[in-house]
Amino acid sequence: METIVSGIQPTGNLHIGNYLGAVKNFIALQNSGKYEMYIFIADLHSLTENLAPDKLRTQITTAAAEFLAAGIDPDKVIFFRQSDVQEHAELAWIFNCVMPIAELYRMTQFKDKSERQESNVNAGLLTYPVLQAADILMYQGALVPVGQDQIQHVELTRVVARKFNQRYGDFFPETKHLLTTVPKVMSLLEPAKKMSKSLGKDHVIDMADEPAMIEKKLKKAVTATEGGGLAPGAQNLLSLLKEFGSQEEYQKFSAAEKDGSIRYGDLKGTLAKTIADHFANFRAKRNELLQQPEKIEKILASGAEKARAVAEKTMSEVRKLVGLN
Ligand code: ADP
Ligand code: TRP
Repeated sequence: METIVSGIQPTGNLHIGNYLGAVKNFIALQNSGKYEMYIFIADLHSLTENLAPDKLRTQITTAAAEFLAAGIDPDKVIFFRQSDVQEHAELAWIFNCVMPIAELYRMTQFKDKSERQESNVNAGLLTYPVLQAADILMYQGALVPVGQDQIQHVELTRVVARKFNQRYGDFFPETKHLLTTVPKVMSLLEPAKKMSKSLGKDHVIDMADEPAMIEKKLKKAVTATEGGGLAPGAQNLLSLLKEFGSQEEYQKFSAAEKDGSIRYGDLKGTLAKTIADHFANFRAKRNELLQQPEKIEKILASGAEKARAVAEKTMSEVRKLVGLN
């Protein structure tokens, strides 16, 4: 059985980009029954951003509630909080010592984040992908379902494994990314950029947004064409309708776009309703779970116990390989 590993940082509510690019795939892969799966909340990675401790704590709980509400089943997936398994940080340190820093300076996300948080370019931002490699390789992860922006980090994971194996002998596997049909959902307001919570609230639709909020955000979405052809904003909305709407609705708007009769107000109205309906169940379950933080804690603790058993084994072999015992 192949092993799948993926994580998401608890940096805020999940949005429909996270959903279409990653979370939806987690659920499909989980339900296929074909894989051994590890899904975790990457809270250690979040420390690279300047979050208040109380806020981080709340966001971890919210993230867990959202994964569970989206359909992650702790009986089918080892679902845990990264920091509960301390071996991740230890393996990351060992990997730091085989990785040339030049490889890390080349990472697009490091460059982007260094610009975005100019006053906090901490060492963790640079070694972020090394910790990610540790997350994946700890469980001998072969497949990593992520959105397009994370492909570079999965490639770096292969480099880490190769460097380690060259020095200490063959131990870690080659890891591959797994993409969905929509690996890059674009921002509502700046459709040249990927939808990301770092751009601001009005650029993203959260899975937890109430129907009125979805409608309001879509109303402001950019659809204007610059010099003919299908504008990226309009293209983005159509691809969302393709994912969330019925075949019929999609065909109708797609044809109207081609013959020039499309009314974007109508497209936005239909899309708002479709997205709101799609996540109605999710919103209800999320709210229910958020009333039961002890239940969430229990689930995370039980996942951590299972993950730790595997991580301890990996680390005991790694320590031997590198000469620490
Ligand atoms: P954000 O950029 O909003 O902070 P994250 O970096 O936490 O999102 O991403 C979590 C997961 O969701 C990753 O697998 C990432 O590739 C995926 N993802 C994020 N944004 C998008 C998007 N706009 N389209 C598709 N997938 C995305
Ligand atoms: N870097 C990923 C993101 O921003 C989160 C992450 C951390 C991750 N560790 C991982 C994803 C391991 C896949 C596998 O979305």
